Amino acid sequence: MNTPSPTQREVFFPDSEIIVSKTDLKGRITYANQTFCRIAGYDEAELLGQPHSIVRHPDMPRAVFKLLWDTLGEGREIFAYVKNMTRQGDHYWVFAHVTPSYDASGKLVGYHSNRRAPRREAIAALEPVYAKALREEAAHKNGQAALAAGYQCVVDFLRAGNTSYDALVFSL
Ligand SMILES: Cc1cc2nc3c(=O)[nH]c(=O)nc-3n(C[C@H](O)[C@H](O)[C@H](O)COP(=O)(O)O)c2cc1C
Repeated sequence: MNTPSPTQREVFFPDSEIIVSKTDLKGRITYANQTFCRIAGYDEAELLGQPHSIVRHPDMPRAVFKLLWDTLGEGREIFAYVKNMTRQGDHYWVFAHVTPSYDASGKLVGYHSNRRAPRREAIAALEPVYAKALREEAAHKNGQAALAAGYQCVVDFLRAGNTSYDALVFSL
């Protein structure tokens, strides 16, 4: 599927709706609800089997996804603010709650994400942090160095505020 170019035009979804998706262990989509499909601009059939990065916006620093995957890898849930991109290249901000999913025997079988419309104050506070992390990442040619630099930028920001990402997102 072609990756759209970002338009920097924001689209919104109502507070009453929840954007839901499930993935397998590699982050490939196994379920998307109607709200997801409508906002992102894809049919569910087009989404199934696709990597979740299909809605990745290039303004999102890789550091945030490292935080997400590291947290899930520890068996913990994470709340995160994410800027996503629609099929048309527009974007929509979400406040995501991502959790590991287990089967009856306790085996990890995938992940689940519920996303609500975010508080605007939170976006205003986080956008500059994400932008700075992205600039740090862009300043490095080497992928690992880029990720480390972006991640450090987020860590430094949290340390300066004597907080964690978890605590921060709920304080905004
Ligand atoms: C349950 C679940 C939901 C996810 N939702 C999103 C999402 O809405 N937007 C996004 O960009 N990445 C999401 N991701 C992270 C992607 O899997 C991926 O790590 C990210 O898009 C960065 O992709 P890239 O490293 O290929 O650029 C989600 C991952 C999981 C496990």
